[in-house]
Amino acid sequence: MKTYNIAIVGLGNIGLEVYKNLLKNKKNILDKTGFKINVSHVCAKNFKKNRGVSIPKKIWMANPLDLPKIKNIDIIVELIGGSDGIAKKLVFASIKNGKHYVTANKELIAKHGDKLSILAEKNSVNLLFEASVAGGIPIIRSIKQGLVANKIKHIYGILNGTTNFILTEMEKKGSTFAEALKYAKAKGYAERNPFADLSGNDVACKISILSSICFGSKILNKDFLVEGISNIEILDILFAKKIGYRIKLLGIAEIVNNQIKQRVHPALIPADLDIANINGVTNAVVVDGEPIGRTIYEGAGAGKGPTASSVISDIASVMVGNDDFSFGLSPAAKKNYKLFNFRQHVSKYYLRFLVHDKPGVLSIITSVLAKNKISIQNLLQDPSESSLSNVMIITHRAMEKSIQGVIKILSKNKKLFKKIVMIRVRDESKL
Ligand SMILES: NC(=O)c1ccc[n+]([C@@H]2O[C@H](COP(=O)([O-])OP(=O)(O)OC[C@H]3O[C@@H](n4cnc5c(N)ncnc54)[C@H](OP(=O)(O)O)[C@@H]3O)[C@@H](O)[C@H]2O)c1
Repeated sequence: MKTYNIAIVGLGNIGLEVYKNLLKNKKNILDKTGFKINVSHVCAKNFKKNRGVSIPKKIWMANPLDLPKIKNIDIIVELIGGSDGIAKKLVFASIKNGKHYVTANKELIAKHGDKLSILAEKNSVNLLFEASVAGGIPIIRSIKQGLVANKIKHIYGILNGTTNFILTEMEKKGSTFAEALKYAKAKGYAERNPFADLSGNDVACKISILSSICFGSKILNKDFLVEGISNIEILDILFAKKIGYRIKLLGIAEIVNNQIKQRVHPALIPADLDIANINGVTNAVVVDGEPIGRTIYEGAGAGKGPTASSVISDIASVMVGNDDFSFGLSPAAKKNYKLFNFRQHVSKYYLRFLVHDKPGVLSIITSVLAKNKISIQNLLQDPSESSLSNVMIITHRAMEKSIQGVIKILSKNKKLFKKIVMIRVRDESKL
């Protein structure tokens, strides 16, 4: 019976949990895969750090880049992070040296996944990254294997727990963005530097990976629309609620006219839709395929337990040999799709104008909208005692470039317009 020797690089939140669970689950994994596992090497930056668990000295390695050359290692598990630096050097060296590779590193895969999957095929090893998207939800394997019979037309979801937690707190408790962010940090749901989460960059990596798997395309990781949630205020959430919507940060990818329409942005979603009711740190992914139809996957999108669960599922998958292609198809079969020009996107839009309360401001807004052939579905003016007030509008369906044109024209008028917020409205019936 073969024993798989595993090297774990990175013993932080996730690495340590993987280490502990591999030791605890040896028998379970043997029963389910028919193979033994042995954590033969571990590596982290600081050997002296107290990790609250005893790790035999003899399995410690000082330099991760020595691991690819060690003959008896079968699988290298990278849990450091980052698209370049040590993680990049390690993955290329490992695959070239014939090691199977498992990682939770979304930045690395979104940036180098195409090259790496070619290299993995050439060297007859597996490169797997289930934990890089949606934490504990086995979304990658579900698409690659469970939905293998399907032509996938559309995927979208809530792919970042931190931002979903913040938006949920704002809606449920009426907290400001700053208060909700502070609470998320206190609960350990937001990193000290939350830029990657708040800016939408984290979701951008995840949707790039998912769209490549869904559509069999080369990874589109640049030049698509990526907007985060830092601009959203409690007023927007409350107004959305009043008219039957919730605001969620979405990663979305679909095939339109043989192009990939991919983007990350907050959206107003009808409050009765399943995905609008995914709260807190939970993630959810909707996949629409033919012949299956619409499916939804929900679960913990981050955290050590759920992420370790996905990492270990990849390790087991390497052992049983059921996961040949990293992206679900031979790298040679990947297509080169173009990115849809998002200026041609059509939807309803939510607009909030923070205006200096002067006569005629409303007619300026409505006339600029009318000139750009944008009609209004709902309008609400927030009565204010100060010199500033808010005008909220939901438009009928309009083209992105027209909306951007309106925002450009009105925002030039600094005397009247202090701030303009735009959020796209999602209407599943029009997909
Ligand atoms: N945290 C989550 O919920 C989550 C969810 C999904 C995916 N992920 C991904 O999982 C990966 C790990 O995340 P994490 O939260 O566990 O990060 P983390 O707690 O910061 O751990 C990073 C680990 O990498 C080690 N490390 C850093 N530089 C190194 C080097 N040059 N050589 C060897 N080891 C080095 C650190 O060593 P020291 O401990 O000695 O400092 C630490 O053990 C990332 O790719 C992340 O995006 C995380």
